[in-house]
Amino acid sequence: MSLQTLSEWLRCPICFGPLAPGGALVLRCATGHAYDANKRGYVSLAGGSRRLIGDSAAMLDARDAFLSAGWYEPLRDSIAALVAQEDPLAVLDVGCGTGYYLRGVLATLDSARTLGMDLSPVAVARTVAGDIRIDGLVADVWAPLPVRDGVVDVILNVFAPRNPAEFHRVLRPGGLLVVVVPQETHLQELRAAGLALGVQANKSDELVASLDANFVLESRRISSELLTLDASQVTRLVGMGPSAHHTDAATLAQEPHADRPVTVAVELLGFRRRG
Ligand SMILES: C[S@@+](CC[C@H](N)C(=O)[O-])C[C@H]1O[C@@H](n2cnc3c(N)ncnc32)[C@H](O)[C@@H]1O
Ligand SMILES: [Zn+2]
Repeated sequence: MSLQTLSEWLRCPICFGPLAPGGALVLRCATGHAYDANKRGYVSLAGGSRRLIGDSAAMLDARDAFLSAGWYEPLRDSIAALVAQEDPLAVLDVGCGTGYYLRGVLATLDSARTLGMDLSPVAVARTVAGDIRIDGLVADVWAPLPVRDGVVDVILNVFAPRNPAEFHRVLRPGGLLVVVVPQETHLQELRAAGLALGVQANKSDELVASLDANFVLESRRISSELLTLDASQVTRLVGMGPSAHHTDAATLAQEPHADRPVTVAVELLGFRRRG
């Protein structure tokens, strides 16, 4: 990132005026609100009094280890293919985690800039590391986003929380929202073993309904695969997701060392911005 490219995405979280470079590693609005950028390549604009929790370093380590073994590569490639059809110049990944999917998207694009956003500073630091085409933002998706109106061509939202009205505002007219949600059968074998949380039934139907005021559903694709995972891969898969908050070490220690079949079932949906 450069301070200039980072600032071009952003607005002040207090007065909503555009942010611009305002000194060494400082972003400033015309009113004088100032924010320190991190020399690792991101800025934190997650103010507010609410207690905010993003993924921990341990969860991100587990995610990194699991994803880099290639288990979700088909999903990453499908996302990248869907985004590449848009030939976007500006891609925002909301809830970017380690940046795995954003890097997959960037690999297929020649001249795009990207912004990785997450509530977890550790996640954003990992996402921006090593690629100057990725800017980073620590922010809460449930608050008004500190992103300017209409500056984004494509939003990615993979296994992460959403803010439909704000997604509509930051996308340009005609922009695309790409969402990945788990299916009911996702990780069902781990759930049966008490290692994973349940997925709410009809999650994708609820998603479509919740976005309907702002977005038109354009494409949907379900994929389901049976992976064969050994104990260490199961531990990483459990440790990288929401179940990590609920599964204790004792339960995981009982994980059998034999290979285990695990269903990975997700839906990839494309939504076009209304209006
Ligand atoms: C299940 S992870 C998915 C990460 C990444 N998209 C992936 O699939 O590898 C959910 C991500 O959402 C982030 N997150 C949770 N609550 C958030 C919030 N309120 N605002 C922004 N990000 C949030 C977490 O820190 C975490 O990185
Ligand atoms: Zn301001």
